[in-house]
Parts: sequence; C-alpha cells; structure tokens
Amino acid sequence: MKKISIGADHTAVNLKAEVIKHLASRGIDVIDEGAHSSERSDYPSFASKVAKRIQSGDVDEGILICGTGLGMSIAANKYKGIRAAAVSEVYSAQMSKTHNNANVLCFGARVVTPDLAAKLVDAWLDADYEGERHQKRLDMITEFEQEERS
Ligand code: RB5
Repeated sequence: MKKISIGADHTAVNLKAEVIKHLASRGIDVIDEGAHSSERSDYPSFASKVAKRIQSGDVDEGILICGTGLGMSIAANKYKGIRAAAVSEVYSAQMSKTHNNANVLCFGARVVTPDLAAKLVDAWLDADYEGERHQKRLDMITEFEQEERS
C-alpha cells in the first residue's frame, strides 16, 4: 500500500483535511505532519518534515499545501532527492510525474478548490514516470546536489 506524508501551514488546514479524506478513500496510508490548527505557522517547518519522511523511506511520496504552493515547493526542493512540483492545473500535475518524477506535489489553498485539489492529486498519483530520456535529465539535477556553488 502506498504511504504519503502530508503537511500544510495555517492557510491550508481545512484543505489538508479534505485531501486526507480523499487519499483515505483511495486506500492510501497517510501521515499527517500538521499543521493541526489555523494558528499562524511557518510553511518551511512542514516542508522539512515531509521531505525528511521521504528521505528516510518512511513514506513513498509527499503532499504540501500552503497559500500558493510556492513556498512549500521552494523549501522542499532544498532537500536532496526531493522533486517538488507546485501545480494548479491537472495537466501539470500529471506531467510532474510522467516527465519529472515529482515525489512531492504542492498546491495552494488560496488557488485551488477542494474539488480541483482532488483532481490534481489523482492526476499525479495515477500517472507513471516514463524514465528513459527523462532519467538523464533527472540525473543532471541530482548532480547539482553534489556541486559546491558560491
Ligand atoms: C502565508 O501567508 C503564505 O505566505 C504561505 O501560505 C505560502 O503561500 C507561501 O508560499
């Protein structure tokens, strides 16, 4: 059974609950990393929790929701091996897996409705990574993680 870690800041607590219900209806095992209230919180802390869950192998993939999905993706992509894609329409959600093998899906509670969020999640979960020519490109990105840059 697929296991997913999910995190959200204060802007997205309600949408996170909807997404968790949707994941459960698909038989997916979910670890909820918070936030658990609408008290103001900092999105990087949830991005960090989800990224570390993936790095440790506790879960297969992650979902991160903030106001726009942007801060979450920027933060999660600082972690080695994380390929986080911020999306707001179904085609990009699907392609984030097919071509980019995104292991974290990000979106914004101030951008998407619960219905669209479920469609984004489904498009990403149901897509298959195509590998082949795309793998060379992902390998190039992985090499960036080893480089020292000033
Ligand atoms: C919080 O106001 C907002 O900045 C945050 O949820 C997120 O959208 C950042 O990218």
